[in-house]
Amino acid sequence: MPSTSELASDKAKRHQIIDACREMNRLGINQGTSGNISLRHDDGMLITPTSVPYDTMHVDQIVFMRLDGAPPARQRPSSEWRFHRDILKARSDVNAVVHAHPPYATILAIMGREIPAVHYMIACAGGDTIRCAPYATFGTEELSRHAVTALENRSACLLAHHGMIAAGSSLAKAMWLAVEVETLARQYHGALQIGTPPVLSKAEIEIVRTRMAGYGVGGSEN
Ligand code: 13P
Repeated sequence: MPSTSELASDKAKRHQIIDACREMNRLGINQGTSGNISLRHDDGMLITPTSVPYDTMHVDQIVFMRLDGAPPARQRPSSEWRFHRDILKARSDVNAVVHAHPPYATILAIMGREIPAVHYMIACAGGDTIRCAPYATFGTEELSRHAVTALENRSACLLAHHGMIAAGSSLAKAMWLAVEVETLARQYHGALQIGTPPVLSKAEIEIVRTRMAGYGVGGSEN
């Protein structure tokens, strides 16, 4: 349980995390208690607790842990704290990480498919593909390593037989991207029903990336 002064210093962020969790429920990108969110704070991160329904989640259940260690004793952070910690450690451009099992992104992840450049909006995730990290058991260091690798030069990835991760310089941006990844997955899945979807070239996605710099939540403060 955080002390009163700790709670006061990061209360706004704790509320922000719970609001985002409930927004995932409203948007239909979360399934049950399977999603989790982290937000950089001081030399560590604030992260959702494990297996707590978002509707009943309370600010004092959000766990603070340092990026150079494991969770404090008697705290129950998300079972995925390792990849949240390791992504925030590896990426100084990232301040928030959103993980969920949205239906269409997860269908593609089950099939081990990356999302190719079927729509120009893929550029929002940093490149011409959204990679699918190989499968590893949830909560493990192996899964964390796969996630960090799949996110190289990207801000989103799929996790095979599992779900997706979206990262951003703010929680609003990570949430916006999580919705965009699910939209792209749905579009790709739909196009696959008709045939083999044509894809945009790497060069075109680079042009889009340049034109889009600063697009999305928060605009050019990216
Ligand atoms: P929590 O441990 O955060 O409840 O979530 C489980 C999960 O999503 C595993 O990937």
